[in-house]
Amino acid sequence: MIVRPRRLRKNKIIRDMAAETRLSPSMLVYPVFIREGSNIIEDIPAMPGQKRYSPDTFPRILEEVQRAGVNSILLFGIPEHKDEFGSEAYNENGVIQQALRVGKIHFPDMCFIGDVCLCEYTSHGHCGLLKGETVDNDPTLDLLAKTALSQAQAGADIVAPSDMMDGRVAAIRAKLDGAGMDDTLIFSYAVKYASAFYGPFREAAGSAPSFGDRKSYQMDPRNVREGVREALLDIEEGADMIMVKPGLPYLDVLRAVKEASEVPVGAYCVSGEYSMIKAAAERGWLDEKRVIAESAVCLARGGADVIVSYFAPELAKMMKEGE
Ligand code: PBG
Ligand code: ZN
Repeated sequence: MIVRPRRLRKNKIIRDMAAETRLSPSMLVYPVFIREGSNIIEDIPAMPGQKRYSPDTFPRILEEVQRAGVNSILLFGIPEHKDEFGSEAYNENGVIQQALRVGKIHFPDMCFIGDVCLCEYTSHGHCGLLKGETVDNDPTLDLLAKTALSQAQAGADIVAPSDMMDGRVAAIRAKLDGAGMDDTLIFSYAVKYASAFYGPFREAAGSAPSFGDRKSYQMDPRNVREGVREALLDIEEGADMIMVKPGLPYLDVLRAVKEASEVPVGAYCVSGEYSMIKAAAERGWLDEKRVIAESAVCLARGGADVIVSYFAPELAKMMKEGE
């Protein structure tokens, strides 16, 4: 035999030299849930190891995460008061706006990303305004844009619309620019599927729809070309970065989107992916650390420039230790 592929797998130094995929903590984003109140750090039963923080306790997790080597945070807000218009989403003293101000004061060097959606803030749990039983696209756009602007004004470096309304990136860009916030990036959840893998998140954020589902606005899991179309539309509307969500079950979509676009592409390893690994590891059925590391490698190999993951701090630690 002249050709022996195993030679390239001989030892760790050679394997590392030959590796086609390299990970770095700079690609990681850690999602944090902020709820209204003070002095709160509470467990999220469906996501063991993840917690909800009030704005005043938020710096504690920031410190921990930064020490682990993660510098970017994605914020989700859980308001005390919900109404049919999701008003707390665009209240300048809303929970996420408070957290952004606190975060920026204590950690000016960190990157803060605000999730822009209404489902955590509406009494009906849908991602926009209702007209009868359907979500009314166009009137929702202004509320999303107001939400994005209020987050940017509170200190968000990046806004991340996750609602899947048509035209929301353009509406947000126009609103930001009109207020002189042309420096704020838009990281759009361009390719977001109507997925059962969001189950634990909806418990964490209290954002399950009170009737029906999100299939009339989030994407059909059977489609991949439609994902490319959504991605290109958002880029045309001014998205600086785009995201595919969920992560591991959608690697083919991630690859297709990556090849079709020229902006950084993120993959969101969602709550269901997190909780499945946690549950199996708790029973001793999986080696948690190795599965976490492998999952991140697979997302990067699939095309992710950015990985949004509840495992971000663990991943960063492993990367620093060269595992
Ligand atoms: C809000 C939003 C959701 C997630 C991110 N932003 C939930 C949903 O669309 O129902 C899911 C994140 C996760 O499962 O980790 N629209
Ligand atoms: Zn939503």
